[in-house]
Amino acid sequence: MESDKLSTLLKDMSLEEKIGQMLQVSGVFYTEDGVLTGPANTVGYTEEEIRLAGSVLGAVGTEQLRQIQTRYMERQPHHIPLIFMADVINGFRTVFPIPLAQGCTFDPELVEEGAAAAARESAAAGLHLTFSPMADLVRDARWGRVMESTGEDAWLNGRLAKAMVEGYQGRGGLRKKGRIAACVKHFAGYGAPTAGRDYNSVELSERTLRDDYLPAYREAVGAGAAMVMTSFNTLDRVPSSANRRLMRDILRGEMGFDGVVISDWAAIEELCSHGVAQDKEQAARLALDAGVDIDMMTNCYCRHLKKQVESGAVSEALIDEAVLRILRLKNELGLFENPYKDADAAEEQALALCSAHRQTARRMAAESFVLLKNDGILPLAAECRLAVIGPHAANPEIYGAWSMHAAPAETVTMEAGIKNRGCGQVCFAQGCALQEALGDQDGQGESTEAAERLLQEAVELAKKADKVVLALGEHRLHSGEAASRADITLPACQMELLRRVCAVNKNVVAVIFSGRPLDIQEISERAAAVLAVWMPGTEGGNAIADVLFGDVNPSGRLSMSFPYSVGQVPVFYGQFRTGRPCTEGTQEKYVSRYLDIPNRPLYPFGYGLSYTTFAIGPVQADAQRMRKSDRLRVSVTVKNTGSVGGSEVVQMYLADVSASVARPVRELRGFQKIYLEPGEEREVSFEITEELLRFHDIHMNYVSEPGEFRVYVGNSSETKNEAVFWLEE
Ligand code: GLC
Repeated sequence: MESDKLSTLLKDMSLEEKIGQMLQVSGVFYTEDGVLTGPANTVGYTEEEIRLAGSVLGAVGTEQLRQIQTRYMERQPHHIPLIFMADVINGFRTVFPIPLAQGCTFDPELVEEGAAAAARESAAAGLHLTFSPMADLVRDARWGRVMESTGEDAWLNGRLAKAMVEGYQGRGGLRKKGRIAACVKHFAGYGAPTAGRDYNSVELSERTLRDDYLPAYREAVGAGAAMVMTSFNTLDRVPSSANRRLMRDILRGEMGFDGVVISDWAAIEELCSHGVAQDKEQAARLALDAGVDIDMMTNCYCRHLKKQVESGAVSEALIDEAVLRILRLKNELGLFENPYKDADAAEEQALALCSAHRQTARRMAAESFVLLKNDGILPLAAECRLAVIGPHAANPEIYGAWSMHAAPAETVTMEAGIKNRGCGQVCFAQGCALQEALGDQDGQGESTEAAERLLQEAVELAKKADKVVLALGEHRLHSGEAASRADITLPACQMELLRRVCAVNKNVVAVIFSGRPLDIQEISERAAAVLAVWMPGTEGGNAIADVLFGDVNPSGRLSMSFPYSVGQVPVFYGQFRTGRPCTEGTQEKYVSRYLDIPNRPLYPFGYGLSYTTFAIGPVQADAQRMRKSDRLRVSVTVKNTGSVGGSEVVQMYLADVSASVARPVRELRGFQKIYLEPGEEREVSFEITEELLRFHDIHMNYVSEPGEFRVYVGNSSETKNEAVFWLEE
């Protein structure tokens, strides 16, 4: 429909119809054949309110969505189509590694490929939009939703959020077949909840918000994300869904976002819980004034806006601007011409878990694994006598908390992956439960005998094996939404298994499944090798076998630091020097340090081992001084000095030595992942421009300041390979 006709349509719509477009309800209100049920609902919608709701979340499947759409449009005075939205966070039916793992690939092209596969599968299943990418910066491993982010660094997150938007939406318009609209979330700052507790308040300085937390959203908006979702948290004590400055001045004004803003689930009504709205009427007014167009799953808008427009308390112009944005999105998706878009049962069936998507998932999983320690035990020789032990070895639920369309039967377990590969003598044992049985926290009751039997069986296998692979880690639902943890160690039963196995066999490889960085200090001390596999998804088992046996050389680099202990958290590489920096090895007392643990994490951002070795030469800068208009080229030579081919992630960090405000000790401003055969050498170069040096100065202007800079180029955020240059006036 031509855009000017949208304005005509808007003029023809009744106030009820318009407000209906601003409501999103869950698919649970529709039965399989698409008929509205008498709403057995906790929200208290009327039949009429649901009949007019403009979008549906969480319903999937060609048949059902076709039915819902058909019946819906029959009942619409203007036959306006629904938008179907859902959380396709890391894949739809083919499940990819969790986004935190995708961050470890440092491979935007691969991340885009995964998003495109997810778009094809979900579009064929009738979906029009996904609530992804989650572009929240995360630095606190206690928070369960770190699994949904691509990590602790703004630069990496920005590039991967952009890649996901382009993967979902393509570049030729939302109407294109196999494309879905992207919704970047959660705007803004949701990843920094106080004490790592989900939904808690966020206390960020304006400068930290702008320098660290906003850039990734900005990249996603710049890539054309069709929608933005508000976050549950307060920022400076103002909840995002009522934060006019954040949503209108910053998002729409500064970032130029002119698309649809949707609240997070019930976030508008939660303005009452936050204590900034007396009642739902005021909550509706505040959210509308802040520029929130769609109310997800409350009745604040549909029940409390009409009378306020009629009383003059709310301007109908605000309703019109919101509805026009919603109609425009439906139009950009081509829904007025084809309300079913790509919904096609045969296509849905053919694409789901197709071999091409499985191959991408397998490649991405292998690239997302991070080899944290290896005393030489890896890669495993195929003919070795192997014992594979642990609660995750045969566990099919190795996909993230948002993978609600995954099925265990379709997932390749670690055990299956190892068997698929075919290797010498392998035997398997569970060893222990994934976690203590509820109510058995103190180990009482008959389960103690059963637990001891499992342990002894595992120990006997370990005694006879050349090498042991221990499959340990979190339950998939111990990360994700509402899954914060104050203790980020593994369950006691798993630690007992580790100790008992390591007592009889020194050749132990620990494979860690998790949705967050865990406290793996003891595991790291006891095991000969440690491989972080996160929640690897559908092809996880095959990918683990690929890496364990050396068919794939691990190339993952940490997207989020593994803390030395939870007492350090939030811990991240981009810290500040402070007035009393604790320099490595100092014995000084009065410096910024702990008495009982080091300042640095156990494993830092950007770190990861390979089965080969790489030599990165000194940083060569084309000049030592640059003007603001210059582009300073820095380069290193990288050589594969080992015996097998592999990929290195060459990372470039910049440090502003002295500025009008304190600056992070370094910031990632470039990375390149390169593959080298043994003995192969290549020059890798980066261009430093004045834009890369900008930050919010003492006056909150986004500028670069002349002075001394350091450029670091290496294979982790702790590289000391540096060069110095000066930015002139
Ligand atoms: C949830 C999440 C959000 C998700 C939405 C819809 O509460 O915070 O990320 O997209 O509801 O499921």
